[in-house]
Amino acid sequence: MSARPADPLPAHTALTDSFGRKINYVRLSVTDRCDFRCVYCMSERMTFLPRARILTLEELAALGRTFVELGARRIRITGGEPLVRRDILWLLQTLGQLRERGLMELTLTTNGSQLERMAADLKAAGVARLNVSLDSLDPNRFHRITRTGELETVLRGIRAAQAAGFERIKLNAVILKNRNHDEVVDLTRFAIDHGLDISFIEEMPLGMIGDHNRAEVYYSSDAIHADLTRIFTLLATTESTGGPARYYRIPGANSRVGFISPHSHNFCDSCNRVRVTAEGRLLLCLGNEHSVDLKQILRAHPGDHDRLRQAITAAMALKPRSHNFHLAGQPLILRHMNHTGG
Ligand code: GTP
Ligand code: 5AD
Ligand code: SF4
Repeated sequence: MSARPADPLPAHTALTDSFGRKINYVRLSVTDRCDFRCVYCMSERMTFLPRARILTLEELAALGRTFVELGARRIRITGGEPLVRRDILWLLQTLGQLRERGLMELTLTTNGSQLERMAADLKAAGVARLNVSLDSLDPNRFHRITRTGELETVLRGIRAAQAAGFERIKLNAVILKNRNHDEVVDLTRFAIDHGLDISFIEEMPLGMIGDHNRAEVYYSSDAIHADLTRIFTLLATTESTGGPARYYRIPGANSRVGFISPHSHNFCDSCNRVRVTAEGRLLLCLGNEHSVDLKQILRAHPGDHDRLRQAITAAMALKPRSHNFHLAGQPLILRHMNHTGG
């Protein structure tokens, strides 16, 4: 497989970590809640945060503005499921206006359950690109993996997003052995037939999930790549969306096929991002707990942008070199994925 591609965003940013990496991408989790319970993300019974503990939309808007002032060029909105947050469109419209201050792209990752209803509004609010989770094309399997989701609803959502004018929608498929690994060809064909990109993701060990042993269901990107090359010609590219995916092209198709391989092809050397949890914790790495409590600063010093800027800038020194995921045994990180949205 090819080396990691270069980040296409300009490197001009005030945020640099102690390993010289430029941070120009921030992921804001707007809620830990979700209407799905995907087996790799959550346990069946989850307790969600009380509303007072999650950032208000105004606080999220202030954070977005501060990050853009500091040089962030892309903001990705995540959850839980971001579209279950009430008045999310206000936040998206507000963040969308940051394009006048240097934001280049506002993007969103969603499970697709609300897209049919919201796609046109998302487009109007200035969301540039959507990533939609889709792990199976079999309705029963889809329901077993998401525990509550309905495949047809998500497919209608994807169609609505295309009708609303979204281009380069990316499907995210977390591939687990004996759950959905036999669908990688069908998922790729679906992406090609519908003009979508697709990323295959190795499961990351975040939080106790209770459904499966993560080491046993591990299915590597190389195994997926081998399965696909039995049917398709995959040409390595240097294309990048600024994220960790390594993309391939299939001759004659418009789709990109990506691999996000935290275990088999570490991408931390080119990390360009930080994330803020739904609780307002600036997390310097998805696979570590180094963090700074931005909610405390926002609430103790409302409107004090300088203090926020200083705290974010200083936090870069805490960014660890690399994630440190181990599939065997208990997860080292007890935080579930729904607190960060990936
Ligand atoms: P773009 O490249 O901007 O299109 O998005 P993306 O693929 O980075 O984002 P998305 O929200 O679709 O996430 C896809 C997968 O990548 C999820 O499983 C995320 O957890 C994972 N991911 C995104 N960023 C990181 C990262 O910095 N570290 C790790 N380990 N995983 C990441
Ligand atoms: N490992 C890898 N990806 C995960 N996602 C959720 N939990 C995990 C996990 N444990 C993915 C979802 C979604 C994206 C935000 O993160 O499928 O597409
Ligand atoms: Fe919800 Fe996304 Fe987690 Fe699935 S992976 S339960 S859709 S937050």
